[in-house]
Parts: sequence; C-alpha cells; structure tokens
Amino acid sequence: MITVEVPGKLYIAGEYAVLEPGGAAVLVAVDRYLTVSVSPAPPASRTVTTARTGDRRVELARRDGRSVVADDDPATTAALRHVLAAVDLVERYAFECGNESLGFHLGIRSELDERETGRKFGLGSSGAVTVGVVRALAQAYRFELDEQALLRLALLVAFAVDPRCSGGDVAASMLGGWVSYRAPDRARVAELFARNDTRLADLVERPWPQLSARRVPAPRTVRLEVGWSGHPAVSSGLVEKLRRGIAGDTSAYGRFAAASNACVATLVAALESGDDASVVAAVASAGALLRAVSGLAGVVVETAELAALRSVAETLGAVAKTSGAGGGDCGIALVAPADAQQLQQRWRAAGILPLELRVHQPFSARGQYQ
Ligand code: PMV
Ligand code: MG
Repeated sequence: MITVEVPGKLYIAGEYAVLEPGGAAVLVAVDRYLTVSVSPAPPASRTVTTARTGDRRVELARRDGRSVVADDDPATTAALRHVLAAVDLVERYAFECGNESLGFHLGIRSELDERETGRKFGLGSSGAVTVGVVRALAQAYRFELDEQALLRLALLVAFAVDPRCSGGDVAASMLGGWVSYRAPDRARVAELFARNDTRLADLVERPWPQLSARRVPAPRTVRLEVGWSGHPAVSSGLVEKLRRGIAGDTSAYGRFAAASNACVATLVAALESGDDASVVAAVASAGALLRAVSGLAGVVVETAELAALRSVAETLGAVAKTSGAGGGDCGIALVAPADAQQLQQRWRAAGILPLELRVHQPFSARGQYQ
C-alpha cells in the first residue's frame, strides 16, 4: 500500500491579486494532514472511500473517456470532483506514457476540518486532496516526475475543476514549509490543454510561463499564530463578489494587484534575507491593501470577528490579517514568541479560537518528501 500525507495550507499574503496571471502570494503549509492511500485492486476496479461520502466504498466507472461515479449520484459526484479529475489526468498521463490502466482503492482521510463537527477551518482541503491523489497515484504508476512536474499535473487538475482558482493552495500543499508562489496565465494553460495536438506530457514536463513555486525560509524571531473566526467561508463566492464590485473601476483593481505584487516581492526578499522587521511590515501592508480593495468593492473580507482577531493582536504589538478570501475562516498573526500565549488567551476572550497549528516542515518524517 502507498500512503502519502499532505499538509493543509494558509495564506500569508497576496490573496485575490494572485488570481491574475503572474500574481504573487506567500503561503504556509500547516501540520494538519490529509492522507491518501492507494491499495492495489484487480484491473478495472477503481474505488474510493472518504468521510465526505459517508465512508462507504464508492465505485468509479469510465464513460466517454472520463471517470464518473458508477451510480451517478449527484451529491457523491460533487463531493468527489477533485478526486475524479485527478484520477482522469493521472490516467491520461499514464496512457500517454504507455502504461496499462491500474485497478486501485483510494482511501482518503482528512484532519483539515474540525474533528468533532466536521466544520471547515479553511485549511485547503480541495488543494490537499488534489495533491494527495496526484502524488499517491503517481507513485502507484511509478512516474518519474519531480516535484515541479507533479505540481503542474496537480494544477491542471485544480484548474479543470475550478478555472478561477489561483492554485496557491495546491503549491503550498505540494511543497510544504513557507512557499513563494507566482500564478501562471490560466487562460493560456487552458487553451494549450484544450488543443488536440497538445500532449499532457508537454504541459507536465515543461516549465510554464510565469508559474513559479519555491520554498522560502521561515521568519526566525516571530512566530505564526492562527485564529479561527468560528465561521466557515466559501472563497469562490467572495472572489466573484469582489470582481463584480470593482468591475466599474478597473484601474483601481490594477493598482491593487500591482501594489499587492510589490508587497509580496518585499515579503519574499525579507524572508530570504532574514529581515523579520520587514517581513512584519510587508504582512501589515498586505492586510491594509486587502481592507482597502474590499472596502472599494463593498465586500466584507474582514468580518467583525476577524477585525477583533487583528485588533487584539495589535494591542500586543503583533501584526495580524485575514488569511485567504476572508469573510470567515482564519486570520493569522506574527507575534514575538514571548507574547504567543498572551495572544491566545486574549483571542479566546474575544471569541476567537486559537488553532494549535505549526508550519509543516518539508522533509520531516510525516511529510515523506524524500
Ligand atoms: O480562502 P482561501 O484560503 O481558499 O483562499 C482564497 C484565496 C484567493 O486568492 C481569494 C482565491 C485563490 O484561488 O487564490
Ligand atoms: Mg478561506
């Protein structure tokens, strides 16, 4: 049996602006995991078990060259859309390379949502399941693909399911640690992907214009703390609203995107040079830019709870901001280690749930990034 453990993710900076071609973001992978195991099965037998579909064994079938849920149940199909797309693309790549189709059972377990209630924290379960299925099946097929090629394969899956996502979550879950991400031109990738004469191998095995994903050093003198607002949020709805809200003022959106990219560039340079004061300043600017653009669009990114999370952190001299699309989910803070406990206490008093998360360390025993 092959087992891969994939970390969840959180955005540090660059949200929304990273949706533009070449848009930049910094993310971290966190030490809550989604686990995918592949067990061998007779050829043509492909099954999946996940809590999302009630832990029953779901049978997959192939119709018109696509993987579908054998009984066509719409809720199961919706719950497994990243899994189905990942299976499709991995198999397409395998056939291109001359492999026979493998039978398999995929077992998926996730600790990314709240254990007791299943409530969503916003730690990137779609990105993690995409990375998990791609990595696990790539091992089963013994593809000789490096991490960057696997990332491109996983991004193709993510874009096939949701052409409007940036792929930052996929990069963080694939690479681990602190990650500097620059988004590809998705429209261009989709165009190449749709062409009859494009082999998947051409897209997977070669670098894409603008796409860049690499690990950067963590700050050394400040510690990352994460607080949950208590409200799950749906990112795609907010992305749509922000775009619509600002549609009348494209120059304002362009200015926001340029400022955000510059801010992320400063953040990455500061992380690389170990200049934690500039890291903190850049994260503060990233938060301010998001508040400004969301105000302009009339969209609530920083909810009352997330505003409380920030102001509590600021009373301790820490920097804090919303993480991801906002509207709920988590906020992050960078705080002096000596103040971390105090911050957690004050967050609790303000109704914010501190999450006991640490940054996932790539190459660790759990991460299996040999
Ligand atoms: O809320 P999250 O963690 O899913 O982050 C969304 C970040 C956006 O930039 C708004 C969307 C994206 O796909 O990058
Ligand atoms: Mg979110």
